[in-house]
Amino acid sequence: MSVNVPGRLPRLGRMNMLAWWAEHLARAILQEPLPRRWAHVQGVAAQARSLAPVTGADADLLEAAAWLHDIGYAPGLTVTGLHALDGARYLRDAQHADALLCQLVAHHSCAIIEAEERGLADILCSELEPVPYALSSVLTCCDMTTSPDGELMPVEQRLAEIHDRYGLGHLVSRSIQRATPMILSAVEQVHHRATQIA
Ligand SMILES: [Fe+2]
Repeated sequence: MSVNVPGRLPRLGRMNMLAWWAEHLARAILQEPLPRRWAHVQGVAAQARSLAPVTGADADLLEAAAWLHDIGYAPGLTVTGLHALDGARYLRDAQHADALLCQLVAHHSCAIIEAEERGLADILCSELEPVPYALSSVLTCCDMTTSPDGELMPVEQRLAEIHDRYGLGHLVSRSIQRATPMILSAVEQVHHRATQIA
C-alpha cells in the first residue's frame, strides 16, 4: 500500500516524535477509507497520551502504538484477516518501524486469542514476540475503554458493544469472550496504577 506520509521521523526536537509520525501515518491510512475507525483511533491515542504519567519513558512509544494499532483494518493492508498481524507486518516491512512498536501492534488487546481462533498463533508469535505486560496492558486498556466513535466507554460496555457488532458465534465475538478475563484485568491494573500516581 502506498500512502503519502513522511518517510522519516522529523527533526523537531520533540519528546513525542514517534507519536507525531504515527499520527500522520495512521491518518493517511485510515481517515478516508475508514472514518469511524479513524475516530476510534483518535480516542485511543488521546487516552494513551493522558496516561503519560503512568507510562513515563514509554509514553511516546505507547501513544504511537495507539495511533497505529488498527491500521491492519485498512483495505490495502488486509492479508490474513488478523488485523493486528497485518498492521504489524506493514509497519515492519513497509515502514521499517521500531521493533517494539510493531510488537505492540501485533499483540494489542489479547490478539493472540484471535490468532489462535484463526490458526495463526504460531505465525504471530514467531514473527513478532509478545511484549512486556506493563506495556501491552496500557494499550489494551486504552483500546477496550474507547468506543468505535472515539468516546470514553466503560470496559463492560465496550465488550458488549463488540458482541453486538459482530454477533453471537462470530470468530471475533468468540475471541473477545475468551479474552475477557485478561482484558478486565488489564483495565483494572492500569486504572489502579493511574489512581496511585494521581
Ligand atoms: Fe482498536
